[in-house]
Amino acid sequence: MSLLEIEAYRLAFDGFEGTATVLDGIDLRVEEGESVGIVGETGCGKSVLARSLLRLNPMPPARVLGGAIRFAGDDVLTMTPPALDALRRGGIGMVFQDPVTYLNPVFTIGQQMAEVLRAHAAGTGRRPEKAAIRARTVELLRQVQLPEPETLLARYPHTLSGGMRQRVLIAMALAGEPRLLVADEPTTALDVTVQSQVLALIADLIARMHLTLLLITHDLGVVGAVCRRVVVMYAGCVVEDAPVDRLFDAARHPYTQGLLAAVPDLERPDHRPAGIAGSIPNLRSPPAGCRFHPRCALAMPVCRERRPALVEAAPDHRVACYAATP
Ligand SMILES: Nc1ncnc2c1ncn2[C@@H]1O[C@H](COP(=O)(O)OP(=O)(O)OP(=O)(O)O)[C@@H](O)[C@H]1O
Ligand SMILES: [Mg+2]
Repeated sequence: MSLLEIEAYRLAFDGFEGTATVLDGIDLRVEEGESVGIVGETGCGKSVLARSLLRLNPMPPARVLGGAIRFAGDDVLTMTPPALDALRRGGIGMVFQDPVTYLNPVFTIGQQMAEVLRAHAAGTGRRPEKAAIRARTVELLRQVQLPEPETLLARYPHTLSGGMRQRVLIAMALAGEPRLLVADEPTTALDVTVQSQVLALIADLIARMHLTLLLITHDLGVVGAVCRRVVVMYAGCVVEDAPVDRLFDAARHPYTQGLLAAVPDLERPDHRPAGIAGSIPNLRSPPAGCRFHPRCALAMPVCRERRPALVEAAPDHRVACYAATP
């Protein structure tokens, strides 16, 4: 059994202008201890997928069309409210892109950390002493390598730098001792140097705490630095899934190849990165067959008619493309 199993998961958003099938048959497994990256252009459904793991998409307008999500064998989509609460508190920890949104400006870091810890404890029927909460808060802040955690407790979010705020949110995500850490663009809002420090912290935490990581980003460089395996999404579909090294050396899907060609090569500054021609489809009326076919140089008649399944192209390497698989 994998820690996380997503099978043929489909989710739509209903709106005045019609229904958008935003996730169209997602197949994804994450093994305990693995670090997996999810990449893809803006709007391809990465955040909606992350939120689906904890059923955080607003329903309505969101609607599950089918498929299954299992965490440690438990069916997330049919979970009772108490089980879902427990999953949110302890099973899966989430870190999002914009730390400002998730911290309350009128409470100190110490108050907000204490609140999180009390909620976790209440879920297990415990009522910890103030001193125990304080000690645990300091321990968590130390784990995310924040200097002088004792003085940090009394400070308000706006007095912290973006990188520090993101470390606080990582500490909060770790408070429930999750088995899976989901980080959705955790460094996008940060300066480049701070980005690499926070990534190094995440890599260090998962190694030391034996955490499983699902890291969402549109930056292939970030995935290369932290993850062992990468899943490429396009317009609500998984198009390729491979070990990181293999993806960089031998990507099979034309979309992945386009993404890789679009990464600037620092060793060849004169070489202009090529973009992918065309634009992402409207998900209310997506192309039939393979959703990438209108932008694909290798498109064949079958690509316009039938959606290619995700099939094994090599050991541990799966691709959804008629042109890339025998
Ligand atoms: N609450 C919502 N109501 C309606 N549509 C939504 C909602 N949330 C997301 N969507 C739509 O779902 C699609 C996928 O959005 P999502 O935020 O998952 O993209 P993403 O891959 O995370 O992009 P980015 O890289 O910009 O973060 C988009 O078309 C978006 O407009
Ligand atoms: Mg997103």
